[in-house]
Amino acid sequence: MIPNLAFTAGAAAPVEGRDGMVVSSVGPAAEAGHEILKQGGNAIDAAVATAFAAGVAHPFSSGIGGGGFILVRLANGETLAIDARELAPAAVTSTTFQDPNGRHDPRASRAGGRAVAVPGLVQGLESLHRRYGQLDWEDVLAPAIRMCEEGVEVGPFHQRLVGFVAKYLPPETAAIQLKDGKPPPLGWRLVQKDLARTYRTIALHGSRAMTQGPIAHAIVETVRESGGVMTLADLRGYELKERKALVGTYRDRYQVISMPPPSSGGVHLIEILNVLEAFDLKQMGVGSVDSIHLIAEAMKLAFADRAVFLGDPDFTAVPVERLTSKSYAAKLARRLKPVPFYRKPPWRWGRRRILHVDPPVPQVANDSGTTHLSAMDAEGNSVAITQTINTPFGSGLTAKGTGIVLNNEMDDFATAPDAPNAFNLVGYGANRVEPRKRPLSSMTPTIVLRDGKPWLVVGSPMGPKIITAVLQAIINMIDHGMNAQDAVAAPRFHHQWKPDALELEAAFPQTIRDALIKMGHPVKESRFGIGAAQVIEVDLERGVIYGGADPRRASRAVGYSIQD
Ligand code: DON
Repeated sequence: MIPNLAFTAGAAAPVEGRDGMVVSSVGPAAEAGHEILKQGGNAIDAAVATAFAAGVAHPFSSGIGGGGFILVRLANGETLAIDARELAPAAVTSTTFQDPNGRHDPRASRAGGRAVAVPGLVQGLESLHRRYGQLDWEDVLAPAIRMCEEGVEVGPFHQRLVGFVAKYLPPETAAIQLKDGKPPPLGWRLVQKDLARTYRTIALHGSRAMTQGPIAHAIVETVRESGGVMTLADLRGYELKERKALVGTYRDRYQVISMPPPSSGGVHLIEILNVLEAFDLKQMGVGSVDSIHLIAEAMKLAFADRAVFLGDPDFTAVPVERLTSKSYAAKLARRLKPVPFYRKPPWRWGRRRILHVDPPVPQVANDSGTTHLSAMDAEGNSVAITQTINTPFGSGLTAKGTGIVLNNEMDDFATAPDAPNAFNLVGYGANRVEPRKRPLSSMTPTIVLRDGKPWLVVGSPMGPKIITAVLQAIINMIDHGMNAQDAVAAPRFHHQWKPDALELEAAFPQTIRDALIKMGHPVKESRFGIGAAQVIEVDLERGVIYGGADPRRASRAVGYSIQD
């Protein structure tokens, strides 16, 4: 008999709010968003405040030295995807990530000046606020400034993360983030005076503060002294993009609105959902061997597509329509009936069977350079933001005197064909490094409508696991009828085609592991968990808003009710 994982609901119930909700993988930042709702701000104001505060409370996880994607759906139905993704500096060349002997040097895109791409987060948040915010710009920045000045208490997640990377931090970053050169003790207050000054300047001058004047000079100097090629012209030339959100459907009633390229997230989320529509997941059972096998094979097919076809759409023609079409999904689904065991990518079907069995890759603490927040107000305005500096503390550099931790987003490019990045992702020409190009991302801020009404706001951090975590949260809610909290807490698995490893969280019972191994899956235990999904769900009948915060991180859901 094939063992089946009967999922029993976790102890925690979803958080309730009648007039709004903020959920973030950075707990104190969700409180900042709640404060803004209480002041009369809408979901947009709350999201902007949460986003700024997230970079203060977990400076290893995101911040204004990075970028992000913002997905908005207003109560009036208007939908917008703001692409605040970082850009490659204009002076990068094909040899930027090679050592002096012309050999590919993977470290160059992970730490130090060459790793840093031109940040865009402040521009993105400013544009979002300018378009749809209600409160003043200074007001939405106020909680973050206060957190910089008064300090934020270091909790267990924070301490663990800093512990992983403490010994690699350069002096300017260590001086701020460590206590006497060591990871801070629990309860220590991280005060960020320089960052407070920077935020005050941004409150006064907006995103111009990041592209000209002393902060811009400090960024460029820091990057160049550490071997990078960024210039002031790169900062000034940063171009924010407003894009049309992708829209897919799932099981008739549901519309899935998500991020288009340069994210791969929306494309593959919709692609996998389209494929899974042909199967009765509910009947297969949540966490059953059959369903894990099926979904893992579907993930492999999508990730194989990601590696070849996805990149910055301003540089490469991405076949978005085809990849997200029902006809392509039907073709893939036919290949999964019965579910075979794929070791070859879909675009090689019918040709020679290609076996790729990669050696197991050591798991690094690469999983916390990103954060996700979901926000909604009483009107139904919905915002999903995933923001990143890539791996924890990004490039490791802090721009002198500014407190800004600079990203290492250049590592999201395929810096050499088929060379795995920090997340073991591979890519080819579509995602090769080019001047002023955006590196391919997996961030998947998503809004799901049910019968045309906003129902879910969802997203997650964790590189490629973002896509699979968001997928599983959505399936858990739609196919398995879970509530928002159970949907994010339930055990998850992940496959990204390369390396050939099926990662399972520890919560899966041994019987399931054994059955999957017997089928041939190279099962690997996930050391850090898979993603940290943050869900808002609206009970469309009762009009109550629920928040589900992922227990895998120091996440929090904070509901807002006017009577409180
Ligand atoms: O854009 C991306 O796909 C990556 N830079 C995201 C990295 C990430 O999620 C790290 N973890 N929490």
